[in-house]
Amino acid sequence: MKDINILAIETSCDDTSASVLRNNIVYSNIIANQDVHRDYGGVVPELASRAHQQHIIPVVKKALDIAKINKKQLDAIAFTRGPGLLGSLLVGMSFAKSMAMSLKIPIIEVDHLIAHIFALFLDEPNKINVKPKFPFLVLIISGGHTKIAIIKDYLDIEYIGDTIDDAAGETFDKAAKILGLHYPGGPVIDKYAKPGNKTQFSFSKPNVPNYDYSFSGLKTSILYFVRDQLKLNPGFVKENLNDLCASIQKTITDILIHKLDKVVKDTKINQIGIVGGVSANSFLRKEMQKYSSENNVDVYFPDMKFTTDNAAMIGMVGYLKYQKKMFSDYDIAPYST
Ligand code: KG4
Ligand code: ZN
Repeated sequence: MKDINILAIETSCDDTSASVLRNNIVYSNIIANQDVHRDYGGVVPELASRAHQQHIIPVVKKALDIAKINKKQLDAIAFTRGPGLLGSLLVGMSFAKSMAMSLKIPIIEVDHLIAHIFALFLDEPNKINVKPKFPFLVLIISGGHTKIAIIKDYLDIEYIGDTIDDAAGETFDKAAKILGLHYPGGPVIDKYAKPGNKTQFSFSKPNVPNYDYSFSGLKTSILYFVRDQLKLNPGFVKENLNDLCASIQKTITDILIHKLDKVVKDTKINQIGIVGGVSANSFLRKEMQKYSSENNVDVYFPDMKFTTDNAAMIGMVGYLKYQKKMFSDYDIAPYST
């Protein structure tokens, strides 16, 4: 089959990203972050779509320039159709449609969660990554989702577990807000946790049946604990920030691995992918490496730069769909969930 050049666009939340791939190889992956949300403890949808409109043209231009690909060489444009913020998705999708129409090439809609999974299959010109073998289990942990799935083949996915309330990333973000740290909370907690004592404080863990997760009890437990301690000592958070971050990070990681272990034991699948923004967490990565050697399973993480939202992963699914001629109609609308 001939080489396929794909331009991919991702605007589902607060990052505007464009990427150029030749087959599964990433030639550029440009991400414009939106600092406007930092002080709000979460993403403000109206500010996000406005920022996407400002960023989309320069970001796409830069992705093409860095990849040294002329737009006339593109075979298709892939974009995130959902899930995400509708106003944000609309910006990337409308841009993809009009650019593809003018170039007379197909458009390919991509599901954001599926893209996180297939980030495991991305390569770079000088970096070929080791990939999981089918079937493999995947834990998708992002700001909006916490799911477990069995990946039977390319694009053949069976979801078997989900969170019944908050997502893992959302829990990092909310915990950070309680501690007075800025959004997004995951990377900040990861950083402050490094010198901390992870067994200094303990928080409640859920007891949810099947392969599902729950994080709202943990969030409440952190909130009440911090509130009570602050009444006794207004300097409590400041004086214990490292230990608090390390203990919260350990609790979230323990919850994630505990359920995953149940799935591994039940399904006897020994290949595991961990994907989505929270898979960037350094403690989780370390614990999963330990789990891997103790349980004789292979664990795969996407390259760091493909863990949080990026267009390269959208391009990867675009490439897989292109091979199956799974193109989209121009009249489709985005979906939020
Ligand atoms: O996949 P992603 O970029 O966006 C969504 O699809 O939601 O994930 C964003 C989430 C945020 O909640 C952020 O706090 C979390 O990923 N995150 C982390 C780390 N880096 C990003 N959580 C824990 N540790 C990190 N190092
Ligand atoms: Zn994401």
